[in-house]
Amino acid sequence: MSLPNTHRALVVIEQGKTAVREKNLPALDPQGVLIKVKAVALNPTDWKHVDFQLEPGASVGSDFAGDIVQIGAEAEGKGFSVGDAVAGYIRGGALDRDNGTFQEYVTTLPELVWHKPASLPYEDAAAMGGIALSTAVQALYHRLNLPKPWAPATTPTPLLVWAGSTAVGIFAIKLAKLSGFHIATTASPRNHQLLKDAGAEVVLDYKDPEAPKKIREWAEQYGGLKHALDTISEHGSTKLAANAFGPEGGKIITLLNVDKNKEQPWPSNVEPERTLIYSALDKKNADDFAGIHEWNEHITAFIEEGKLSSMPLKHWEGGLEGLTEALDYQRQGKVSAQKIVVKL
Ligand SMILES: NC(=O)c1ccc[n+]([C@@H]2O[C@H](COP(=O)([O-])OP(=O)(O)OC[C@H]3O[C@@H](n4cnc5c(N)ncnc54)[C@H](OP(=O)(O)O)[C@@H]3O)[C@@H](O)[C@H]2O)c1
Repeated sequence: MSLPNTHRALVVIEQGKTAVREKNLPALDPQGVLIKVKAVALNPTDWKHVDFQLEPGASVGSDFAGDIVQIGAEAEGKGFSVGDAVAGYIRGGALDRDNGTFQEYVTTLPELVWHKPASLPYEDAAAMGGIALSTAVQALYHRLNLPKPWAPATTPTPLLVWAGSTAVGIFAIKLAKLSGFHIATTASPRNHQLLKDAGAEVVLDYKDPEAPKKIREWAEQYGGLKHALDTISEHGSTKLAANAFGPEGGKIITLLNVDKNKEQPWPSNVEPERTLIYSALDKKNADDFAGIHEWNEHITAFIEEGKLSSMPLKHWEGGLEGLTEALDYQRQGKVSAQKIVVKL
């Protein structure tokens, strides 16, 4: 298949601003695959990169689903062929300024993508292949070291997903249900039914000052809370979640930096640990890379067997041109229990 030299891409034109431009395709690493992007999903990290990280000219976008159009010489024999539909995530524009997903072609390593089932729309695959679900996988299985969905818990295990209506939270609840945990979570009341349907046993309002105490008491029947994921990690959320732990304490995973010394009084036997999903993109972080690769080898079957589904999607119109407005919608904090997806 002949490929163009240039393609259309959303790029940073100045700090905080993006526009569609013609630019070179990202260079294909001999170990990589080149993918024609069919759909993308948005994450808060995309606008944060536009506002705080990327230089003018850099490509944007992290989550994608599309079709493989080229395979590097050293990527042969890794389970993928030209024409295969796949999904995954990258760190748009930050590691290679020409490699983003809000453009016609993206490149990544074969270990970092998974086969999209034919019945799954590309938009759902972009949402499920992306940063949110992968972060939930990393937090639950590679940081908290909880039983994985293909070898679920055999004893009752309570888990708190604080801020369950975030994209990371919704996927964490779905995964934790597959892993056989008993799940408590928090969200605005309008999202409670959605989270119960996703697998939560208890859903409380994060604005309820009694929520930590109610979760602590609920978890007593399962031996007390020892594991939590705080998917918001802002505005004192981690301290609230830490107060739900049982007398033994335990570990809480955060998605942003949380300094417990600035969150006093803090329960002394609850340890916060920040996770960062980009670590899994680098082969040098061997355990994280292998962990996401392992998940990518399982996700297709979970979807095909109807055990794992996508989250509510907000289909944004306008293709590449629509993405600047979509980024702004996310930047303004208007996203609630939904994932913005765009068909390219
Ligand atoms: N470290 C990493 O690797 C990593 C990976 C992914 C994401 N993140 C970060 O994690 C955060 C969440 O990302 P996301 O994509 O999951 O978010 P998202 O889907 O955009 O989050 C939207 C949700 O945030 C909830 N929310 C807002 N303020 C809240 C508060 N004070 N307490 C509890 N919930 C609140 C809202 O809940 P209601 O509508 O129910 O009120 C809404 O549903 C972002 O800051 C993102 O940058 C980090």
